[in-house]
Amino acid sequence: MTDTMEDLVARGNRLNSPNYAPAPVVFDHGDGVWLVDADGNRYLDFMAGIAVCALGHNHPALTEAITDQARRLLHVSNLFYSREQIELMEALEAATFADRIFFCNSGAEANEAAFKLARRFQAHAMDRPEKTEILSMKKSFHGRTLAAITATGQPKYHKGFAPLAPDFVYSPFNDLEAALEQIGPQTAAVIVEPIQGEGGVRPGTREFLAGLRQACDDVEALLIFDEVQTGVGRTGHLFAYQHYDVTPDVLTVAKGLGGGVPLGAVLATERAWSGWSRGSHASTFGGNPLASRAGLAVLRTIDGEGLLENARARGEELRAGLKELAEEFPVITDVRGVGLMVGAECGEAASEVVALARQEGLLINTAGGHTLRFVPPLTISSDHVERALKRLRRALTKL
Ligand SMILES: Cc1ncc(COP(=O)(O)O)c(C=O)c1O
Repeated sequence: MTDTMEDLVARGNRLNSPNYAPAPVVFDHGDGVWLVDADGNRYLDFMAGIAVCALGHNHPALTEAITDQARRLLHVSNLFYSREQIELMEALEAATFADRIFFCNSGAEANEAAFKLARRFQAHAMDRPEKTEILSMKKSFHGRTLAAITATGQPKYHKGFAPLAPDFVYSPFNDLEAALEQIGPQTAAVIVEPIQGEGGVRPGTREFLAGLRQACDDVEALLIFDEVQTGVGRTGHLFAYQHYDVTPDVLTVAKGLGGGVPLGAVLATERAWSGWSRGSHASTFGGNPLASRAGLAVLRTIDGEGLLENARARGEELRAGLKELAEEFPVITDVRGVGLMVGAECGEAASEVVALARQEGLLINTAGGHTLRFVPPLTISSDHVERALKRLRRALTKL
């Protein structure tokens, strides 16, 4: 067998499950904000594995932490503790509103756990088993398990998977009046992304999120923030709720938390957890020593290297540069985002721009079909931003 990139892609395409259609690129290794493919081409990575590689690739702090951990202890199950898991819970408690934490492996799993937590809170803690409805937002994205696609307010993800999970309803994002009409005594929980990611990088307004907070309090529903994409420093705050100053009862996180090692978590208040008891839920791998050690390395590095400040400053540079490009290239009609979660509206041309950018050695992807999404590592420098903008400019020129 040969292993030119073309050959590798052909071998992959023969066996890969048909839900995926990867670009014909095989990555060989990473180096900070750069990725290198099997033919030696270098790409500036402004996707970070879809907002996962918060520290970029091969960050020494993360590499050393997981290498050391692999030598000592990978897994023990949740029938026992590990020091790493305890320390990660303590770090998350210290940095957020959370009283208790549940670990899992992905964003969808974290949301599943949050739904189970909300239903059980109403059924057991509040003794209202009929209060089961979960409100989510149109154009939201909450993952691919059956309940998570049901919560996802985009019909294209539901097609052919009926029957979906019962008692999910939808309301337009950032429309408080419409949400207030939907929230009532039947509502168990409201789930919302503070900034919609997959729906097209759409920041929520403070008024909307604060209004949801009040409405949930009024009917004793739980407010769940899905921070799977916005969490772990992406917005220039450790979590986006801190940017908005609106605190949920429950927060789900994954993606950046392990910096590339699968790790998700549900953070919630003591009250929200009060419906769960021994055996209510579980995950074999969730928060194992390896994943927890990765999470600790990510959180400590964000703190130690000033990556929240960096995300804010580089995000502003990136948005400013994109706005300049928008003046030159009218195909870009809007630039928005918070911190290093940035979108540029590009209409029908978005996918072509992504492909052209890749040819220029810049990795970005689309969100919501029409938006160019920029979610680079939080470690990027001004020089990386400048290079990315130059490459994007060349791509737009070729359009
Ligand atoms: C806001 C949000 N929630 C949930 C998910 C699902 O996460 P995972 O793919 O880890 O299950 C995603 C993934 O893109 C997401 O952006």
